[in-house]
Amino acid sequence: MKVIVGITGGIAAYKSPLLVRLLRKEGHEVKCVATEHALQFVTPLTLETVSGNKLYADLFASDNDHTTEHISLKDWGDIMVVAPATANIIGKMASGIGDDALSTLLLSFARKPIWLAPAMNTQMWENPTVQRNIDYLRSIGVHIVEPAEGELACGTSGTGRMAEPEEIVERIENGELRIENYPGTANANSPIDKRIEKMIVTGDSPAQFKKVLVTAGPTYERIDAVRFIGNYSSGKMGFALAEALARHGAEVELVTGPTALKTSHPNIHRTDVESAREMYAAATGLFPSCQAAILSAAVADYRPEHTADHKLKKQGEEGMTLTLVQNPDILATLGKMKRDDQRLIGFALETDNELANAQHKLEKKNLDYIVLNSLRDKGAGFGVDTNRVTIIGRDGTTHTTPLLTKVQVAEEIVKHCVGELKIY
Ligand code: CTP
Repeated sequence: MKVIVGITGGIAAYKSPLLVRLLRKEGHEVKCVATEHALQFVTPLTLETVSGNKLYADLFASDNDHTTEHISLKDWGDIMVVAPATANIIGKMASGIGDDALSTLLLSFARKPIWLAPAMNTQMWENPTVQRNIDYLRSIGVHIVEPAEGELACGTSGTGRMAEPEEIVERIENGELRIENYPGTANANSPIDKRIEKMIVTGDSPAQFKKVLVTAGPTYERIDAVRFIGNYSSGKMGFALAEALARHGAEVELVTGPTALKTSHPNIHRTDVESAREMYAAATGLFPSCQAAILSAAVADYRPEHTADHKLKKQGEEGMTLTLVQNPDILATLGKMKRDDQRLIGFALETDNELANAQHKLEKKNLDYIVLNSLRDKGAGFGVDTNRVTIIGRDGTTHTTPLLTKVQVAEEIVKHCVGELKIY
């Protein structure tokens, strides 16, 4: 992949060379574009040495091939990452301003993935104008790697520290697989893009769509051309949720793993995925334009480190070893992305210490509700048509249903968790 790394003027720019090195280690080609202020913190020589390419910083530099270099760079790059992204570049992007090499390039990079790793002091990050700009950029498909909490260069501590380069690379690697699913990128004619276009024209906030994201089914993690690691999830619970939401008037973005189930309601827009990483890409792309998300998919926690594109041969009596690597946690990522006007509901399948474990998961992943399935309950769980759940709220309140059909349980979850959002 060809990656353009944009660097703006913040102290976190000292971490940008490490980001460039990590990207190159992953096999990507990198070119850097820096603002004038960025070069107060990191030198052109450092950026050119680590990237192995010429640095672009000046639209009108005499050694540029031509004065439209930013346009040819736009064609060269597959993806742009701005790290650190200051409040200034975020404001320019949200307003469509192009007054230097980087901001002009970002403007012309309109239909390809852009990632921002903001870095600034806490007051600036919490400034309502900055947050409005971030929300707007998210709603048109720009990806934000949220700043972390910790000690800041200005001597205070709070949220605003740039995410570590390792996390930025991991987020890009996991999210880059199916860019055709991202709003505002490759699939200009998709219903999602059409709705986002309408939102930009009418000035509607994303929440006015009354749109809910639902994940469903299992994920399959490929081992080779004919084998995969999967699980017994049928998708029935997630499909019942999508149908219940649509019946009540919501627009539903259903992202589902492999399943034979069909949807019937016209308000359900379905995205079929296979692996956890594909589900991650689709869900993180869709969440910013949704009012709520209910994540019921049984996502594989691990995938094979390598996938063979042929059928693997028998390895003999000694057996074979498959190395597994961790998949991204979709629910936890949406928990980090969540705005105040959004609601996030997760599921927990527990075998012991059910309530305490589920409550811990709710807090750790920043959820509003968690729906607890207990495998101890007869008639509940994978494959069957019935279920019995306990819905736990952020305030610790619990609501346990009797053993019901999955359709009835879906109604209960919708009413209890998103009822007062007035999607009805
Ligand atoms: N989930 C997710 N992405 C993952 C793993 C899980 O979005 N990679 C979501 C599921 O859709 C579900 C919730 O997380 O809503 C709980 O999944 P579960 O497997 O019970 O919890 P984990 O967080 O994986 O924790 P553990 O396996 O340690 O219990």
